[in-house]
Amino acid sequence: MKILVTGGAGFIGSNFIHYMMKNHPEDSIVNLDLLTYAGNLESLKGLEDRRNYRFVQGDIADRPFVMKLFEQEKFDWVVNFAAESHVDRSIVDPGVFVRTNIMGTQVLLDASREFGIKRCHQVSTDEVYGDLPLDRRDLFFTEQTPLHTSSPYSASKAGADLLVLAYHRTFGLPVTISRCSNNYGAYQFPEKMIPLMLTRALKDEPLPVYGTGENVRDWLHVEDHCAAIDRIMRDGRAGEVYNIGGHNEKTNLEVVRTILKALGKPESLIRFVEDRKGHDLRYAIDPAKLETELSWKPRYTFETGIRQTIDWYLGHQEWWQHILDGEYSEYFRKMYKM
Ligand code: NAD
Ligand code: DAU
Repeated sequence: MKILVTGGAGFIGSNFIHYMMKNHPEDSIVNLDLLTYAGNLESLKGLEDRRNYRFVQGDIADRPFVMKLFEQEKFDWVVNFAAESHVDRSIVDPGVFVRTNIMGTQVLLDASREFGIKRCHQVSTDEVYGDLPLDRRDLFFTEQTPLHTSSPYSASKAGADLLVLAYHRTFGLPVTISRCSNNYGAYQFPEKMIPLMLTRALKDEPLPVYGTGENVRDWLHVEDHCAAIDRIMRDGRAGEVYNIGGHNEKTNLEVVRTILKALGKPESLIRFVEDRKGHDLRYAIDPAKLETELSWKPRYTFETGIRQTIDWYLGHQEWWQHILDGEYSEYFRKMYKM
Protein backbone atom coordinates (compact mmCIF):
# COMPACT_ATOMS: atom_id res chain seq x y z
CA MET A 1 0.00 0.00 0.00
CA LYS A 2 1.34 3.44 -0.87
CA ILE A 3 -0.01 6.04 1.54
CA LEU A 4 0.02 9.83 1.41
CA VAL A 5 0.17 11.21 4.94
CA THR A 6 -0.39 14.98 5.07
CA GLY A 7 0.71 16.97 8.11
CA GLY A 8 3.11 14.18 9.08
CA ALA A 9 5.58 16.60 10.70
CA GLY A 10 2.99 17.65 13.28
CA PHE A 11 2.12 16.03 16.59
CA ILE A 12 -0.34 13.30 15.62
CA GLY A 13 0.92 12.88 12.04
CA SER A 14 4.49 12.16 13.18
CA ASN A 15 3.24 9.68 15.78
CA PHE A 16 1.15 8.03 13.05
CA ILE A 17 4.16 7.66 10.76
CA HIS A 18 6.21 6.08 13.58
CA TYR A 19 3.25 3.78 14.31
CA MET A 20 2.93 2.70 10.67
CA MET A 21 6.67 2.15 10.20
CA LYS A 22 6.63 -0.14 13.23
CA ASN A 23 3.38 -1.99 12.58
CA HIS A 24 3.14 -2.02 8.77
CA PRO A 25 6.69 -2.00 7.35
CA GLU A 26 5.25 -3.46 4.12
CA ASP A 27 3.51 -0.12 3.36
CA SER A 28 5.28 2.94 2.04
CA ILE A 29 4.59 6.51 3.11
CA VAL A 30 5.02 9.91 1.51
CA ASN A 31 4.78 12.66 4.13
CA LEU A 32 3.52 15.95 2.67
CA ASP A 33 3.88 18.85 5.11
CA LEU A 34 4.23 22.59 4.68
CA LEU A 35 6.39 22.88 7.83
CA THR A 36 4.43 25.72 9.40
CA TYR A 37 5.38 26.75 12.95
CA ALA A 38 3.83 23.42 14.08
CA GLY A 39 5.76 21.17 11.68
CA ASN A 40 9.02 19.73 12.96
CA LEU A 41 11.26 17.27 11.16
CA GLU A 42 13.03 16.57 14.46
CA SER A 43 9.96 14.50 15.33
CA LEU A 44 10.78 12.10 12.47
CA LYS A 45 14.48 11.68 13.15
CA GLY A 46 15.78 8.26 12.21
CA LEU A 47 13.27 7.68 9.41
CA GLU A 48 15.08 9.70 6.72
CA ASP A 49 16.97 6.71 5.32
CA ARG A 50 14.10 4.23 5.25
CA ARG A 51 13.39 3.07 1.71
CA ASN A 52 9.64 3.12 2.40
CA TYR A 53 9.51 6.73 3.67
CA ARG A 54 9.86 10.05 1.88
CA PHE A 55 9.29 13.65 3.01
CA VAL A 56 7.96 16.30 0.63
CA GLN A 57 7.57 19.93 1.70
CA GLY A 58 4.45 21.54 0.25
CA ASP A 59 1.02 23.02 0.79
CA ILE A 60 -2.14 20.89 0.58
CA ALA A 61 -3.98 23.97 -0.72
CA ASP A 62 -1.57 24.35 -3.68
CA ARG A 63 -3.67 22.64 -6.36
CA PRO A 64 -1.12 22.31 -9.21
CA PHE A 65 1.54 21.03 -6.81
CA VAL A 66 -0.81 18.47 -5.20
CA MET A 67 -2.12 17.24 -8.57
CA LYS A 68 1.44 16.71 -9.81
CA LEU A 69 2.38 14.79 -6.66
CA PHE A 70 -0.63 12.48 -7.03
CA GLU A 71 0.17 11.90 -10.70
CA GLN A 72 3.81 11.02 -9.93
CA GLU A 73 3.27 8.89 -6.83
CA LYS A 74 0.10 6.90 -7.61
CA PHE A 75 -1.09 6.64 -4.00
CA ASP A 76 -3.51 3.94 -2.83
CA TRP A 77 -4.62 5.75 0.34
CA VAL A 78 -4.63 9.31 1.63
CA VAL A 79 -4.81 10.27 5.30
CA ASN A 80 -5.21 13.96 5.99
CA PHE A 81 -3.76 15.28 9.26
CA ALA A 82 -2.63 18.62 7.80
CA ALA A 83 -4.41 21.47 9.53
CA GLU A 84 -4.14 24.58 11.58
CA SER A 85 -5.01 22.97 14.90
CA HIS A 86 -4.86 25.47 17.77
CA VAL A 87 -8.15 27.05 18.93
CA ASP A 88 -6.48 30.14 20.46
CA ARG A 89 -4.71 30.95 17.18
CA SER A 90 -8.00 30.61 15.28
CA ILE A 91 -9.50 33.30 17.52
CA VAL A 92 -6.66 35.67 16.59
CA ASP A 93 -6.45 34.84 12.85
CA PRO A 94 -9.26 32.70 11.37
CA GLY A 95 -8.31 33.14 7.68
CA VAL A 96 -5.49 30.60 7.52
CA PHE A 97 -7.79 28.02 9.19
CA VAL A 98 -10.33 28.37 6.37
CA ARG A 99 -7.60 28.16 3.74
CA THR A 100 -5.79 25.08 5.04
CA ASN A 101 -8.57 23.18 6.78
CA ILE A 102 -11.34 23.66 4.20
CA MET A 103 -9.70 24.63 0.91
CA GLY A 104 -6.73 22.31 1.47
CA THR A 105 -9.09 19.42 2.15
CA GLN A 106 -11.01 20.20 -1.03
CA VAL A 107 -7.82 20.05 -3.11
CA LEU A 108 -6.99 16.63 -1.60
CA LEU A 109 -10.53 15.41 -2.36
CA ASP A 110 -10.33 16.59 -5.97
CA ALA A 111 -6.94 14.93 -6.43
CA SER A 112 -8.27 11.74 -4.83
CA ARG A 113 -11.18 11.69 -7.27
CA GLU A 114 -9.01 12.36 -10.28
CA PHE A 115 -6.43 9.70 -9.41
CA GLY A 116 -8.78 6.97 -8.15
CA ILE A 117 -7.67 6.84 -4.50
CA LYS A 118 -9.01 3.70 -2.80
CA ARG A 119 -9.45 5.17 0.69
CA CYS A 120 -9.41 8.80 1.75
CA HIS A 121 -9.32 9.27 5.52
CA GLN A 122 -10.06 12.64 7.10
CA VAL A 123 -8.73 13.20 10.62
CA SER A 124 -11.34 15.31 12.36
CA THR A 125 -12.20 16.32 15.89
CA ASP A 126 -14.92 16.06 18.52
CA GLU A 127 -14.96 19.87 18.53
CA VAL A 128 -17.29 19.77 15.50
CA TYR A 129 -20.06 18.72 17.92
CA GLY A 130 -19.65 21.88 20.05
CA ASP A 131 -19.72 21.29 23.80
CA LEU A 132 -21.74 19.49 26.49
CA PRO A 133 -22.98 21.03 29.77
CA LEU A 134 -20.83 20.49 32.87
CA ASP A 135 -23.80 19.28 34.95
CA ARG A 136 -24.94 16.48 32.59
CA ARG A 137 -22.24 13.81 32.91
CA ASP A 138 -24.69 11.34 31.33
CA LEU A 139 -24.40 13.05 27.90
CA PHE A 140 -21.79 12.02 25.30
CA PHE A 141 -21.01 12.88 21.66
CA THR A 142 -22.16 10.11 19.30
CA GLU A 143 -21.76 10.09 15.51
CA GLN A 144 -25.39 11.32 15.34
CA THR A 145 -24.79 14.42 17.49
CA PRO A 146 -25.50 17.48 15.30
CA LEU A 147 -22.57 19.67 14.24
CA HIS A 148 -22.63 22.84 16.34
CA THR A 149 -19.26 24.56 16.33
CA SER A 150 -17.87 27.25 18.66
CA SER A 151 -14.51 28.51 17.33
CA PRO A 152 -13.19 29.36 13.85
CA TYR A 153 -11.02 26.24 14.22
CA SER A 154 -13.93 23.89 14.87
CA ALA A 155 -16.05 25.60 12.20
CA SER A 156 -13.30 25.03 9.63
CA LYS A 157 -12.99 21.36 10.64
CA ALA A 158 -16.78 20.91 10.37
CA GLY A 159 -16.70 22.56 6.91
CA ALA A 160 -14.07 20.04 5.83
CA ASP A 161 -16.10 17.12 7.22
CA LEU A 162 -19.17 18.22 5.25
CA LEU A 163 -17.13 18.45 2.06
CA VAL A 164 -15.70 14.96 2.64
CA LEU A 165 -19.19 13.49 3.11
CA ALA A 166 -20.48 15.40 0.07
CA TYR A 167 -17.70 13.92 -2.12
CA HIS A 168 -18.79 10.49 -0.96
CA ARG A 169 -22.48 10.99 -1.67
CA THR A 170 -22.11 12.97 -4.91
CA PHE A 171 -19.05 11.35 -6.49
CA GLY A 172 -18.84 8.02 -4.68
CA LEU A 173 -15.36 8.83 -3.29
CA PRO A 174 -14.43 6.11 -0.71
CA VAL A 175 -13.99 8.28 2.38
CA THR A 176 -13.96 7.74 6.14
CA ILE A 177 -13.86 10.35 8.90
CA SER A 178 -12.64 9.97 12.49
CA ARG A 179 -13.55 12.47 15.20
CA CYS A 180 -11.21 12.24 18.15
CA SER A 181 -11.07 13.80 21.60
CA ASN A 182 -8.03 15.65 23.02
CA ASN A 183 -4.74 13.87 22.34
CA TYR A 184 -1.58 13.89 24.44
CA GLY A 185 1.78 12.15 24.20
CA ALA A 186 5.23 12.56 22.64
CA TYR A 187 6.01 15.35 20.13
CA GLN A 188 3.08 17.62 21.03
CA PHE A 189 3.81 21.29 20.36
CA PRO A 190 4.04 23.18 23.71
CA GLU A 191 1.23 25.62 22.85
CA LYS A 192 -1.26 22.85 23.78
CA MET A 193 -2.35 22.51 27.40
CA ILE A 194 -0.48 19.41 28.62
CA PRO A 195 2.98 20.14 27.18
CA LEU A 196 2.57 23.83 27.99
CA MET A 197 1.92 23.08 31.67
CA LEU A 198 4.60 20.38 31.78
CA THR A 199 7.41 22.41 30.23
CA ARG A 200 6.58 25.50 32.30
CA ALA A 201 6.27 23.57 35.57
CA LEU A 202 9.70 22.05 34.96
CA LYS A 203 11.09 25.62 34.89
CA ASP A 204 9.03 26.75 37.91
CA GLU A 205 7.15 29.21 35.68
CA PRO A 206 3.49 30.23 36.31
CA LEU A 207 0.85 27.96 34.75
CA PRO A 208 -1.95 29.92 32.99
CA VAL A 209 -5.29 28.19 33.63
CA TYR A 210 -8.20 29.73 31.70
CA GLY A 211 -11.25 30.82 33.69
CA THR A 212 -11.93 28.60 36.71
CA GLY A 213 -10.19 25.48 35.36
CA GLU A 214 -13.47 23.54 35.56
CA ASN A 215 -13.75 22.88 31.80
CA VAL A 216 -13.59 19.17 30.99
CA ARG A 217 -11.61 17.45 28.25
CA ASP A 218 -11.64 13.74 27.35
CA TRP A 219 -7.98 12.70 27.01
CA LEU A 220 -6.72 10.06 24.60
CA HIS A 221 -3.12 8.93 24.26
CA VAL A 222 -1.87 9.69 20.75
CA GLU A 223 -0.76 6.06 20.14
CA ASP A 224 -4.34 4.88 20.79
CA HIS A 225 -5.54 7.47 18.27
CA CYS A 226 -3.05 6.20 15.66
CA ALA A 227 -4.14 2.59 16.19
CA ALA A 228 -7.78 3.62 15.75
CA ILE A 229 -7.08 5.45 12.47
CA ASP A 230 -5.21 2.40 11.19
CA ARG A 231 -8.23 0.18 12.03
CA ILE A 232 -10.68 2.58 10.36
CA MET A 233 -8.61 2.96 7.17
CA ARG A 234 -8.32 -0.80 6.76
CA ASP A 235 -11.76 -2.03 7.85
CA GLY A 236 -14.02 1.00 8.31
CA ARG A 237 -17.01 1.32 6.00
CA ALA A 238 -16.79 3.97 3.26
CA GLY A 239 -18.94 7.03 3.92
CA GLU A 240 -18.92 6.46 7.70
CA VAL A 241 -17.87 8.63 10.64
CA TYR A 242 -16.19 7.01 13.69
CA ASN A 243 -15.76 8.73 17.06
CA ILE A 244 -12.50 7.98 18.92
CA GLY A 245 -12.19 8.39 22.68
CA GLY A 246 -11.33 6.43 25.80
CA HIS A 247 -13.61 7.79 28.56
CA ASN A 248 -10.88 9.78 30.29
CA GLU A 249 -12.71 12.94 31.29
CA LYS A 250 -10.79 15.33 33.52
CA THR A 251 -11.18 18.97 34.47
CA ASN A 252 -8.27 21.14 33.40
CA LEU A 253 -7.41 21.71 37.06
CA GLU A 254 -7.25 17.95 37.67
CA VAL A 255 -4.79 17.58 34.79
CA VAL A 256 -2.61 20.47 35.96
CA ARG A 257 -2.56 19.14 39.54
CA THR A 258 -1.62 15.66 38.29
CA ILE A 259 1.33 17.12 36.38
CA LEU A 260 2.47 19.22 39.36
CA LYS A 261 2.25 16.23 41.70
CA ALA A 262 4.21 13.97 39.34
CA LEU A 263 6.96 16.59 39.04
CA GLY A 264 7.00 17.39 42.76
CA LYS A 265 6.11 21.05 42.07
CA PRO A 266 3.85 23.29 44.21
CA GLU A 267 0.25 24.22 43.29
CA SER A 268 1.21 27.85 43.93
CA LEU A 269 2.48 27.84 40.31
CA ILE A 270 -1.15 27.89 39.10
CA ARG A 271 -2.42 31.28 37.83
CA PHE A 272 -6.08 31.73 36.88
CA VAL A 273 -6.11 33.95 33.79
CA GLU A 274 -8.78 35.46 31.52
CA ASP A 275 -10.98 32.79 29.95
CA ARG A 276 -10.74 31.75 26.28
CA LYS A 277 -13.45 33.45 24.17
CA GLY A 278 -16.31 31.02 23.46
CA HIS A 279 -14.55 28.39 25.63
CA ASP A 280 -16.19 24.96 25.18
CA LEU A 281 -17.29 23.57 28.55
CA ARG A 282 -17.04 19.82 28.21
CA TYR A 283 -16.08 17.23 25.58
CA ALA A 284 -16.92 13.55 26.07
CA ILE A 285 -16.87 10.89 23.37
CA ASP A 286 -18.99 7.77 23.07
CA PRO A 287 -16.67 5.39 21.17
CA ALA A 288 -19.17 2.46 21.07
CA LYS A 289 -19.34 2.29 17.25
CA LEU A 290 -15.56 1.95 16.88
CA GLU A 291 -15.36 -0.56 19.73
CA THR A 292 -18.17 -2.81 18.48
CA GLU A 293 -17.64 -2.58 14.71
CA LEU A 294 -13.85 -2.56 14.62
CA SER A 295 -12.90 -4.07 18.01
CA TRP A 296 -10.73 -1.08 18.92
CA LYS A 297 -9.81 -0.53 22.56
CA PRO A 298 -7.38 2.03 24.02
CA ARG A 299 -4.21 0.57 25.55
CA TYR A 300 -3.52 3.52 27.86
CA THR A 301 -5.48 4.79 30.85
CA PHE A 302 -4.97 8.47 31.64
CA GLU A 303 -2.75 7.47 34.56
CA THR A 304 -0.39 5.29 32.48
CA GLY A 305 -0.47 7.70 29.52
CA ILE A 306 0.34 10.84 31.47
CA ARG A 307 3.24 9.09 33.24
CA GLN A 308 4.65 7.95 29.89
CA THR A 309 4.19 11.47 28.48
CA ILE A 310 5.88 13.16 31.43
CA ASP A 311 8.81 10.73 31.11
CA TRP A 312 9.04 11.48 27.38
CA TYR A 313 9.22 15.26 27.96
CA LEU A 314 11.77 14.74 30.73
CA GLY A 315 13.91 12.66 28.37
CA HIS A 316 13.58 14.95 25.33
CA GLN A 317 14.33 18.39 26.73
CA GLU A 318 16.30 19.33 23.61
CA TRP A 319 13.25 18.71 21.39
CA TRP A 320 11.01 21.14 23.27
CA GLN A 321 13.65 23.65 24.39
CA HIS A 322 14.47 24.22 20.73
CA ILE A 323 10.81 25.20 20.16
CA LEU A 324 10.63 27.41 23.25
CA ASP A 325 13.75 29.26 22.09
CA GLY A 326 12.27 29.93 18.63
CA GLU A 327 9.41 32.12 17.32
CA TYR A 328 7.07 30.46 19.84
CA SER A 329 8.49 32.66 22.64
CA GLU A 330 7.08 35.73 20.88
CA TYR A 331 3.66 34.03 20.46
CA PHE A 332 3.62 33.15 24.16
CA ARG A 333 4.49 36.70 25.26
CA LYS A 334 1.77 38.24 23.09
CA MET A 335 -0.87 35.65 23.95
CA TYR A 336 -0.35 35.43 27.73
CA LYS A 337 1.32 38.75 28.53
CA MET A 338 3.45 36.80 31.04
P1 NAD B 1 -0.31 20.03 14.58
O1 NAD B 1 -0.65 21.48 14.56
O2 NAD B 1 0.65 19.51 15.58
O3 NAD B 1 0.25 19.60 13.15
C1 NAD B 1 -0.29 20.06 11.95
C2 NAD B 1 0.69 19.76 10.84
O4 NAD B 1 0.10 20.19 9.59
C3 NAD B 1 2.02 20.53 10.97
O5 NAD B 1 3.10 19.67 10.73
C4 NAD B 1 1.94 21.60 9.88
O6 NAD B 1 3.19 21.97 9.35
C5 NAD B 1 1.07 20.90 8.84
N1 NAD B 1 0.36 21.86 7.96
C6 NAD B 1 -0.33 22.96 8.34
N2 NAD B 1 -0.83 23.58 7.24
C7 NAD B 1 -0.45 22.85 6.17
C8 NAD B 1 -0.68 22.95 4.78
N3 NAD B 1 -1.37 23.98 4.26
N4 NAD B 1 -0.17 22.00 3.95
C9 NAD B 1 0.57 20.98 4.46
N5 NAD B 1 0.81 20.82 5.77
C10 NAD B 1 0.31 21.74 6.62
O7 NAD B 1 -1.71 19.29 14.67
P2 NAD B 1 -2.09 17.90 15.41
O8 NAD B 1 -2.42 18.18 16.82
O9 NAD B 1 -1.07 16.89 15.05
O10 NAD B 1 -3.45 17.57 14.66
C11 NAD B 1 -3.47 16.79 13.47
C12 NAD B 1 -4.90 16.66 13.00
O11 NAD B 1 -5.68 16.03 14.01
C13 NAD B 1 -5.59 17.99 12.72
O12 NAD B 1 -6.39 17.84 11.57
C14 NAD B 1 -6.45 18.24 13.94
O13 NAD B 1 -7.60 19.00 13.61
C15 NAD B 1 -6.82 16.83 14.33
N6 NAD B 1 -7.09 16.56 15.77
C16 NAD B 1 -6.20 16.96 16.72
C17 NAD B 1 -6.44 16.64 18.06
C18 NAD B 1 -5.46 17.03 19.16
O14 NAD B 1 -5.79 16.85 20.33
N7 NAD B 1 -4.28 17.52 18.85
C19 NAD B 1 -7.59 15.94 18.42
C20 NAD B 1 -8.50 15.58 17.41
C21 NAD B 1 -8.21 15.89 16.09
O1 DAU C 1 -10.90 17.90 21.29
C1 DAU C 1 -9.98 17.82 20.25
C2 DAU C 1 -9.21 19.11 20.13
O2 DAU C 1 -8.35 19.18 21.26
C3 DAU C 1 -8.43 19.22 18.83
O3 DAU C 1 -9.33 19.26 17.75
C4 DAU C 1 -7.55 20.48 18.82
O4 DAU C 1 -6.75 20.48 17.66
C5 DAU C 1 -6.68 20.45 20.05
O5 DAU C 1 -5.89 21.64 20.10
C6 DAU C 1 -7.51 20.32 21.32
O6 DAU C 1 -8.30 21.51 21.55
P1 DAU C 1 -8.45 22.18 23.00
O7 DAU C 1 -8.78 23.60 22.82
O8 DAU C 1 -9.32 21.36 23.88
O9 DAU C 1 -6.92 21.98 23.52
P2 DAU C 1 -5.92 22.95 24.32
O10 DAU C 1 -4.74 22.13 24.66
O11 DAU C 1 -5.71 24.24 23.62
O12 DAU C 1 -6.75 23.26 25.66
C7 DAU C 1 -7.20 22.22 26.50
C8 DAU C 1 -7.98 22.86 27.64
O13 DAU C 1 -7.07 23.59 28.47
C9 DAU C 1 -9.03 23.87 27.19
O14 DAU C 1 -10.16 23.79 28.05
C10 DAU C 1 -8.35 25.22 27.36
C11 DAU C 1 -7.41 24.99 28.55
N1 DAU C 1 -6.16 25.77 28.51
C12 DAU C 1 -5.40 25.71 27.40
C13 DAU C 1 -4.23 26.43 27.30
C14 DAU C 1 -3.38 26.39 26.05
C15 DAU C 1 -5.77 26.50 29.62
O15 DAU C 1 -6.47 26.53 30.65
N2 DAU C 1 -4.60 27.20 29.54
C16 DAU C 1 -3.81 27.21 28.42
O16 DAU C 1 -2.76 27.91 28.42
